[in-house]
Amino acid sequence: MKTILCIGAGYVGGPTMAMIARKCPEYRVVVVDIDAERIRAWQSDRLPIYEPGLQDLVKATLNKNLFFSMDIAKGIEEADIIFVSVNTPTKTFGQGAGRAADLQYWEKTARQIKAHAKTDKIVVEKSTLPVRTAEAMERILQSGNPTVHFEVLSNPEFLAEGTAVKDLENADRVLIGGHDTETGRKAVKALADVYEHWIPRERILMTSVWSSELSKLAANAVLAQRISSINSLSAICESTEADITEVARAIGMDARIGSRFLNASVGFGGSCFKKDILNLVYLCQHYGLNEVAAYWEQVVTMNQYQEDRFVQRMIAAMFNTVAGKRIAVFGFAFKADTGDTRESPAIRVCHSLIEERAAVVITDPKALNNARKDMADCGDKIVYEEDPYRAAEGAHALAIMTDWAEYKALDYRRLYASMSKPAFIFDGRNCLNHRDLFEIGFNVYPIGKKPLSHL
Ligand SMILES: NC(=O)c1ccc[n+]([C@@H]2O[C@H](COP(=O)([O-])OP(=O)(O)OC[C@H]3O[C@@H](n4cnc5c(N)ncnc54)[C@H](O)[C@@H]3O)[C@@H](O)[C@H]2O)c1
Repeated sequence: MKTILCIGAGYVGGPTMAMIARKCPEYRVVVVDIDAERIRAWQSDRLPIYEPGLQDLVKATLNKNLFFSMDIAKGIEEADIIFVSVNTPTKTFGQGAGRAADLQYWEKTARQIKAHAKTDKIVVEKSTLPVRTAEAMERILQSGNPTVHFEVLSNPEFLAEGTAVKDLENADRVLIGGHDTETGRKAVKALADVYEHWIPRERILMTSVWSSELSKLAANAVLAQRISSINSLSAICESTEADITEVARAIGMDARIGSRFLNASVGFGGSCFKKDILNLVYLCQHYGLNEVAAYWEQVVTMNQYQEDRFVQRMIAAMFNTVAGKRIAVFGFAFKADTGDTRESPAIRVCHSLIEERAAVVITDPKALNNARKDMADCGDKIVYEEDPYRAAEGAHALAIMTDWAEYKALDYRRLYASMSKPAFIFDGRNCLNHRDLFEIGFNVYPIGKKPLSHL
């Protein structure tokens, strides 16, 4: 029986390995992490992350051919293929701070692999990394240990949180980057064999290691660019009374453009878009491509502008002051169907509201624990409330930050009745029926559209 090891039991490592275990019953799949609490949670009924369908997927294979463990050394010793799926956040210190990827976790795992490997290994970069990281890894792995051969492959993950299980099951493509050498081609084949258990062969793309590494950064940059493009147009709509939904529909029906990722919103979040674009920006600067760096950096600038614009619009609509006013923030996760709040626009919006001395109440079906951590610096200035109806009681405004399906199904008459008047709704996701809300009595402020106001 072949053994697959994954180092890093996070949003990527956990779901990806659960899918491999499910689809490849003849492989033993072990996931290790340094975080004991996370490992215990994966072994329990309360998984450390929320993803639709994940609980069933893990349950089907847990302790059959899927194992979670803290024993990294043993895991390395026994594995044939080692996926590395550790976090690669933006560097907060030293050279490249605020842009470059912090590779300390990655390098530590490389050193661990080197220390414990007694037989040849295929090492797979699952984490998103700067171009040519594999080269650095190979140097660390090969130094002073000629008896064991390490073949480094790039196999970036394209799953989106909230739809991770669906994305893994039915991936648009799986990308494998390897070296064009005998051992490189053999390693690529060994990894492709795993995915071929459920992914059609024509969707498994094989490229050079460098193209694969860059493709992941490029995919996130282009996806985020679409959001920033439509958000920039939403600002023009608000000034001209054009309607962003009509504009998005009109341009999206052009087959060359396509309709997806054209929803205007308060901005994109998630652990990846901003960090990966900044990583790309840093890479461009490193190679002296300053115009290219500035071009991509603007995608991040526009996103921050959109978050700030959202708060400015709230304040302007509410008679230029929110001080002392209760504002119910509906949703803190960066998108629906996840409890992940990393880089969520709600973080910046809530901080700005607190600075304006608003009384902020946050509600979210899955992300309240993370929200408490993200907003810890605000202490008891923020109230956390599971029940959206209670969150709205006495509020002057609702701010919709996450497009949770349950928010579309709330009884807005009941919410309106319990709120201070005039009552406002700021729909940061354009996910509610604005005409109905207006008829109930709300003053409605969507993104990129004329407000529906009784005032
Ligand atoms: N989250 C996403 O949607 C997504 C999608 C595609 C790619 N990625 C990329 O995948 C990588 C992982 O992202 P994530 O969201 O799963 O991160 P995460 O923070 O949820 O998980 C990373 C895990 O690695 C563990 N870890 C760190 N150093 C370790 C070590 N030396 N030994 C063992 N475990 C260690 C951490 O404890 C953590 O549990 C990142 O590079 C990210 O850019 C993420």
